[in-house]
Amino acid sequence: MTPTFLVFEDHEALSREVAARVASAARESVAGRGRCAIALSGGATPQRLHQLLASGEHRESFPWPDVSWWWSDERCVSPDAEASNYRMAFEALLGPAGVPPERVHRIEGERPPELAAREYEAALRREIPDGALDVVLLGAGADGHTASLFPGSTALAERERWVVAVEADASHPVRERVTLTLPVLDRAREVFVLATGAAKRAVVRAVREDAAAAAQRYPVARLSPLGRLTWCVDRAAAG
Ligand code: 6PG
Repeated sequence: MTPTFLVFEDHEALSREVAARVASAARESVAGRGRCAIALSGGATPQRLHQLLASGEHRESFPWPDVSWWWSDERCVSPDAEASNYRMAFEALLGPAGVPPERVHRIEGERPPELAAREYEAALRREIPDGALDVVLLGAGADGHTASLFPGSTALAERERWVVAVEADASHPVRERVTLTLPVLDRAREVFVLATGAAKRAVVRAVREDAAAAAQRYPVARLSPLGRLTWCVDRAAAG
């Protein structure tokens, strides 16, 4: 799947367009399959997008009752910790939108990572037997990681499991993580990779110039979903 690259003036313009695209993908999915499973990303970049989905025009037209919420990865911290991806999404999106808890499938970062990974995989296989998430939101680190798939990680070679426990290097504040793997990310119907800021420029340029070559170095360049792959970057990241 050749990725599409969309370049936006700034983070706000990017967040607004991606919010609109996620909302329309959700409506399409519900119209076609009666449901929509969305996997959220962590990190700072998607926070504004989350706020936009829970407010204004999207608040009214978004098919909330038929959407289930998942995560692409989680830091192994408690759900009320500052570093929790769940907490970020709850405060910016799920809480303000009044999403009922039964629609929310968070990775239990407070539990032993291997156990949390296995339980999350069991939940995914139970709820989405074909593993095809309808919308997956991902970020990209300056080191080229995505979800918690870091350069050099053995998780990149995983072919069977959908969720694994990993350890990031010491440059990451929270090292223990649980992440979805490429086998399940690549079953997705729609994947958005959000990258903003000059720190992401080298990764964005490498993927745009030669994704296959970039894949040797950057895990995010290995994404090859069955469905659409859209990179959404701002001018600073696009260089
Ligand atoms: C995480 C994320 C991670 C994130 C990138 C980009 O848990 O840290 O899922 O993959 O998307 O690190 O983070 P920023 O958006 O903060 O640059």
